[in-house]
Amino acid sequence: MCGIVGYVGLHQAADVLLQGLSKLEYRGYDSAGIAVHQNGILTVKTKGRLADLKEKIEKTDTCLFGKIGIGHTRWATHGAPSDVNSHPHSSENGRISVVHNGIIENYMQLKEMLEQKGRKFVSETDTEIVAQLFDDCYNGDMVETMINVISQIRGAYALGVLCSEHPDQIVAVRKDSPLLVGLSEKENYIASDIPALLEYTRDYYLLEDNEIVLLKQDGVTLFDLNKNEIKKEVFHVTWDVSAAEKDGYDYFMMKEIVEQPEGLRKTIFPRLCDNGIQLDHISLTEEFVKNINRIHIVACGSAWHAAIVGKYVIEKISRIPVEVDLASEFRYRDPILNKNDLCIIVSQSGETADTLAALREAKKHGVRVLSIVNVVGSSIARESDDVLYTWAGPEIAVATTKGYSTQLSVMYLLAVYFGKAKQEISLQEQNQYITDLKKVPEDVKSLLELEERIKVLAKQYAQSKDVFVIGRGIDHAAAMEASLKLKEISYIHSEAYAAGELKHGTISLIEDGTLVVAIATQQTLFEKLVSNIKEVKARGANVVAITPRGNEAIEKVADEVFYIPEGNELFSASSTVVPMQLLAYYIAVERGCDVDKPRNLAKSVTVE
Ligand code: F6R
Repeated sequence: MCGIVGYVGLHQAADVLLQGLSKLEYRGYDSAGIAVHQNGILTVKTKGRLADLKEKIEKTDTCLFGKIGIGHTRWATHGAPSDVNSHPHSSENGRISVVHNGIIENYMQLKEMLEQKGRKFVSETDTEIVAQLFDDCYNGDMVETMINVISQIRGAYALGVLCSEHPDQIVAVRKDSPLLVGLSEKENYIASDIPALLEYTRDYYLLEDNEIVLLKQDGVTLFDLNKNEIKKEVFHVTWDVSAAEKDGYDYFMMKEIVEQPEGLRKTIFPRLCDNGIQLDHISLTEEFVKNINRIHIVACGSAWHAAIVGKYVIEKISRIPVEVDLASEFRYRDPILNKNDLCIIVSQSGETADTLAALREAKKHGVRVLSIVNVVGSSIARESDDVLYTWAGPEIAVATTKGYSTQLSVMYLLAVYFGKAKQEISLQEQNQYITDLKKVPEDVKSLLELEERIKVLAKQYAQSKDVFVIGRGIDHAAAMEASLKLKEISYIHSEAYAAGELKHGTISLIEDGTLVVAIATQQTLFEKLVSNIKEVKARGANVVAITPRGNEAIEKVADEVFYIPEGNELFSASSTVVPMQLLAYYIAVERGCDVDKPRNLAKSVTVE
């Protein structure tokens, strides 16, 4: 949801800003802009992608030589994508320039107040209000003015501000939207996310809400809301720059699909030890686990799909009741939470606004929060009582793949850990689960070999109008993820259905040639699923089945079968998702879609 970069240093700011934004386009890509200080503030912005911004700079022969500036790539909230709604936004007199990620909720009242003072607005955005308000409050001191401004605005924001009267300073702040500071010798930066700056520095300050940053070439000072200086530890990033590069793949999504076995290995293996499962340094003692009354797993999107798989697996292995909620619902539904409950928050980015708010809601009720997060040091990770990281590495493609599959693997680890702690499973059963878990990365790897067959299938179904994905139990949860992958990147309408539910209405949509993908990994439900396949076949559907080896009988009813390796069926979602990721990918490629940046989406959803 919008990417922000700011730079002050020895080089041309425009180059650094454009380079940084190129790594943040996954956060929004409907318009882009930069503002550079060079004898006053010069702004170039445009509707469209970063490539359009670069073209505009070249075509208009704009000479950008300033060494301090701010940049933005937008995911529209207030006002359609257009040149005028693009960031940076300026105060009417041009003194102040602002980039913003988030939503200013009281922008209408503030706009009215500023209009009464005679200020004129040109855009439909909430951000322009911040620029005008900053100018209105300006007292010559950037930090004091920022403190005054944030005492008046409500909502979520990461802000970077440039002032024509301070050619050496950027002031920035965050509240409920991510922002970090990059530190280097005689050069300093702000950005929404680490990949934007990885090429320049590995040292960062991870900002907390309401910490104000004064960025200058020779140093960074942090302040609290009373203008007291704050000291902060430097966070050193150890991952490789190439982890955030495409490495010769056409799209990040394919690279990330292929990286899944490695991410799974890194997530699972270090947590296996001689006597079972060791969950990093988290403080869930056996005593605590024994007394857990109920687990609430809360997440959005694909992370929510991983949570549903988690419910099946945790309940089955540990017999602890699990409720799964969408974060956007949980936070407002006044959930019944008991002090002996455990809340598990799942998020790849660790910054999703609704998920973060759900975490805070759980903590407000005194419930212990364990989060499953990919981005180290993200807000959710920092605010949780315990964190289990998914070691997938940076995920850049908007549609998650390795983020989701590593989340599943942490669900499995937790289920076995809880099961053993509660003595619901014996030592022998635990060891068998561990043996099965160790096989997951290899199974996923073997499924990548289906690529060529799936390419052919993708050509055949690329022009489908509707696709249905059906399954029962865990397979239904896996079907939801499969269906989301397809619709979000290929724009084909797709629905996931619990196979037994289809005949209660939706089956009326099946017509000649409709593609139905049937996931059938649960042995006790296999025959029932076969009956459901027959029902859709009888109405003209073409059925592609995904099932473990050994279920060859399915070839009698399905038009095409993809086999996954035999293994523990509780862990099957890790395998069944792979052919579906590949199918979604190749259908999207076949349809000429921009796989990594699907329309209307953004990677990190930092607005409600
Ligand atoms: C879909 C997708 C989204 C995210 C969702 C939650 O491919 O990526 O549905 O899963 O926006 O994001 P995180 O996990 O970052 O909280």
